[in-house]
Amino acid sequence: MQTVRELNGLREAIAGWRADGSRIALVPTMGALHAGHLALVEAARRPGTKVVASIFVNPRQFGPNEDLARYPRREMADSRLLTDAGCDLLWMPPVEVMYPDGFATTVSVAGVSDGFDGAARPGHFDGVATVVTKLFNQVGADAAYFGEKDFQQLAVIRRLVADLDLPIEIVGVPTQRDDDGLALSSRNIYLDEEQRAKATALPRALGVAARAIGRGDDVETALAEARTALVAAGFEIDYVALADAETLAADPAADRPRRLLAAARMGSTRLIDNIAIEADS
Ligand code: PAF
Repeated sequence: MQTVRELNGLREAIAGWRADGSRIALVPTMGALHAGHLALVEAARRPGTKVVASIFVNPRQFGPNEDLARYPRREMADSRLLTDAGCDLLWMPPVEVMYPDGFATTVSVAGVSDGFDGAARPGHFDGVATVVTKLFNQVGADAAYFGEKDFQQLAVIRRLVADLDLPIEIVGVPTQRDDDGLALSSRNIYLDEEQRAKATALPRALGVAARAIGRGDDVETALAEARTALVAAGFEIDYVALADAETLAADPAADRPRRLLAAARMGSTRLIDNIAIEADS
């Protein structure tokens, strides 16, 4: 696997592969890789495809009081994991390559960005949409792979690609979980042992509520029970809500694809998770 930090080197490598007729797949990440990221690489790998992973801890998607400074950075370990996973190129631009002096553009996706994490983390999805648009233009990939764990992010990126006619396929990959159900996240390492054990209440509460809603129980009651279970486990809740799986609008009709979404803090660690509503589940 080659590691590239300058745009010219990236474009040369991609042009060489294009000339050979290869398809290009992109796996955007912020590093601190875990099995969830490796599942994206695995999904992206196909005969005739070159897989490019990017690692860039994007300052524009962190709020002033968020964890940008302490966000885990593990260049060597990440590079080894990507090599072993069969990734072909690691795109790791320094911040001054991504945002040179004078950088003045923001990509903002209205509507789908507004609620949930968009409301709790003002500016977050503008930062995501801006960097993802840049990554798509830098790499010129045919397809990009994102985890469903960041479900609102995936919806924002799908809207962005549709609205701007970007010639790239967006592939959502199911959330990878530990054996006890906790969704894999680079932020799980912030949890101490006791918090880590309590955190399993999040997927459990969502699972119970999703099954209740799927069999037609009252939505507000199911959401209230999930909130009660989370508070009892020691979570401080940002939101537990049902949304349209495409537009993320609240109060979705029962005949639309629906998603149950939650964000909650265990100590100072903010965890998110989501689950599809399956009819009669
Ligand atoms: O999901 C992430 O790791 C980031 O939000 C992304 C998509 C790489 C943009 O910085």
